[in-house]
Amino acid sequence: MARKFPIVPGSTGSPSSLYEDSPEREWRWLQGVWRGRGRVSASLWRLYFVVVIDGEPVGMQDLIGTDFATFGTVTTFSWLSPDVRGGGLGKEMRQAVLHLAFDGLGAREASSDAFFDNHASNRVSQALGYVPNGVSWDTRRGEPAEIKQWRLPRWQWIKRRRDDIELVAVGGCLPVLGIDPPPAD
Ligand SMILES: CC(C)(COP(=O)(O)OP(=O)(O)OC[C@H]1O[C@@H](n2cnc3c(N)ncnc32)[C@H](O)[C@@H]1OP(=O)(O)O)[C@@H](O)C(=O)NCCC(=O)NCCS
Repeated sequence: MARKFPIVPGSTGSPSSLYEDSPEREWRWLQGVWRGRGRVSASLWRLYFVVVIDGEPVGMQDLIGTDFATFGTVTTFSWLSPDVRGGGLGKEMRQAVLHLAFDGLGAREASSDAFFDNHASNRVSQALGYVPNGVSWDTRRGEPAEIKQWRLPRWQWIKRRRDDIELVAVGGCLPVLGIDPPPAD
């Protein structure tokens, strides 16, 4: 995938500031990433892309599929180093993985969710055409808090589809993800 700010499936950028208060939590986070990479199967995959600017890893953008061959649905998770937030990168990297999901993998729908007061994440979803899809609950620092849910059907994505995102070598990944390659012309 070649972009002005490329996201590449490679070495992980450490989410250091996320857990700078606790190296132990950071270590557990990284172990989770490595476990996820080793566990890719047709029934559940999580692709951990690294966001790179000028050769420096600055964040991660995950794309997750559960029984994708059956449902065609994906969800996403994003994290950026605090010093590069608020400059439009969050929208860029979400658009990049949405392009992979819809154009490269043939997804039917993408979803996203975030705590109500996570304005940046919710605004990325809203700005990219996701529509509200209800509310759920999760705990945060031990306290219950509301989650805003979003969904982006394929037809909505098509309306905002970008023509400047290049997908590279996706075909070779399809069998690993349990996706039938498109019929040859
Ligand atoms: C969520 C995240 C990836 C978004 O990336 P970002 O680079 O900060 O977002 P962008 O600069 O692309 O901004 C996207 C939109 O959100 C708005 N926005 C950004 N930060 C905001 C804030 N703190 N409050 C309100 N709106 C905000 C921007 O104005 C923009 O809206 P627009 O389209 O109307 O201009 C990033 O903020 C982050 O890593 N946050 C911490 C981790 C996290 O919460 N991840 C999501 C878990 S669900």
